[in-house]
Amino acid sequence: MEQWIAEADAIRPLDLVIANAGISRGNLAKEETADDIRAVFAVNIDGMLNTVLPVLPLLRSRKRGQIALMSSLAGIWGLPHAPSYSATKAAVRVFGQGLRARVAREGVSVSVIIPAFVKTPMTNANRFHMPWRIEADQAASIIKRKLARSKPEFVFPHPYPAVARIVSALPPSLINAFLKLR
Ligand SMILES: NC(=O)c1ccc[n+]([C@@H]2O[C@H](COP(=O)([O-])OP(=O)(O)OC[C@H]3O[C@@H](n4cnc5c(N)ncnc54)[C@H](OP(=O)(O)O)[C@@H]3O)[C@@H](O)[C@H]2O)c1
Repeated sequence: MEQWIAEADAIRPLDLVIANAGISRGNLAKEETADDIRAVFAVNIDGMLNTVLPVLPLLRSRKRGQIALMSSLAGIWGLPHAPSYSATKAAVRVFGQGLRARVAREGVSVSVIIPAFVKTPMTNANRFHMPWRIEADQAASIIKRKLARSKPEFVFPHPYPAVARIVSALPPSLINAFLKLR
């Protein structure tokens, strides 16, 4: 990735880099295996770092540019069908928050993208109802618009920004009672 990013940057200086790759394993019927958990952490955390770390010095040296990290609503609270996915997406979000504050004075902006449900092969595999799931092109246009305004982080689509705020404010015992497997 380091070499590939350097080569891409030499062709045309990168001004926006989105660390998007991510996987999820396990579902309500099939618990994640140890290998699944390690694979999810490898792709979602190491993969994100493999993208961001080589890009950072390039943007810092030019004192401009934007990095966007792909988190998820699942990163707001750990979900029983995908604890490792939730954990990695929480890590991505918090890493982005810290990094944003660290590099802002150097002219580099960091945004965290927090989608709920978007119609892609990943969510097509889900066997549960996904309210307000949107099409990928709708998601792309929301992401494009928010990144153009350098939004620090954004949950979408509506009404998920409100859902995220409510979940973050609820006591853990209440969320556990709602989420725990029966
Ligand atoms: N869909 C949603 O509702 C939703 C909600 C919240 C967050 N997200 C996040 O959005 C991102 C994109 O997900 P998606 O819904 O588009 O899922 P997807 O259709 O399964 O696409 C996953 C993407 O990750 C890439 N990828 C997976 N493993 C990789 C690896 N080891 N190295 C390099 N690339 C790898 C895939 O590349 P290849 O096609 O080349 O395999 C593909 O482009 C993920 O980070 C996901 O967690 C999605």
